[in-house]
Amino acid sequence: MTTNTTSPTAAAGQTWNATRYAHDAGFVPTLGAPVAELLAAQPGERILDLGCGDGVLTAQLAASGARVIGVDASPELIAAAVERGVDAHVMDGHALAFDNRFDAVFSNAALHWMREPNAVLTGVQRALKPGGRFVGEFGGHGNVAAIVTAMRAALCANDAGEPTFAWFFPTADEYTALLQEHGFEVEQIALIPRPTPLPTGIAGWLRTFADPFLADVDAQVRQRVLEDTETLLRPALCDTHGRWHADYVRLRFVAHATTSDFKQGNPQ
Ligand code: BEZ
Repeated sequence: MTTNTTSPTAAAGQTWNATRYAHDAGFVPTLGAPVAELLAAQPGERILDLGCGDGVLTAQLAASGARVIGVDASPELIAAAVERGVDAHVMDGHALAFDNRFDAVFSNAALHWMREPNAVLTGVQRALKPGGRFVGEFGGHGNVAAIVTAMRAALCANDAGEPTFAWFFPTADEYTALLQEHGFEVEQIALIPRPTPLPTGIAGWLRTFADPFLADVDAQVRQRVLEDTETLLRPALCDTHGRWHADYVRLRFVAHATTSDFKQGNPQ
């Protein structure tokens, strides 16, 4: 049941499958717990979970008594979130359709998939009430650098073409500037290296997330590229007990919406 996301701004070629995601990437919501703590959702608050995926963390936020809505561009993941009892909707993060509605916008491990941050931040600013907070974490500069380099090398070695970079991994300075341009005051922002255990190894990670690199590669070559990528990465990301870690670097931030001037539209 894999289906391409339909948004022209979504990462090229990425497909989502809720069962596969839960199996290979169940650590994503678990490791989002510190960001949820930073959000500190209060009973009765209205909260938007931007890029809610299959809704595991969204449901936990809602359990705090906040009124939480989740949005995600993937119909497959939204179906899984709805099944979990989450108030969740298919919506492209580049085109948020909310006005002055939320006390907070929360986002875990999703903003790196949205490659036009100006459109995203315009929508977040508009969705927040004045003074509302934007709390999130996503892949920052240097995130999965070893994995990307190994994939590029494996594609090249198999004459499988040159992939375009699929994700948005800014530095703290770059994202601070973007937030400020969109009328946010930045309370805190930091890049946090976080080697991340992969319960189903690098094979599971590639199965779930590497579509942008492999979408145009035929099945036989694809298999060789995956094997070569694993071989290249083993010395760097697999320990002597066979345990794999991904070289994640998180960009974690808390920002606040300022005046209502920015709610009229994109300030640029
Ligand atoms: C991340 O969470 O950092 C990530 C996940 C999949 C692909 C790229 C980055």
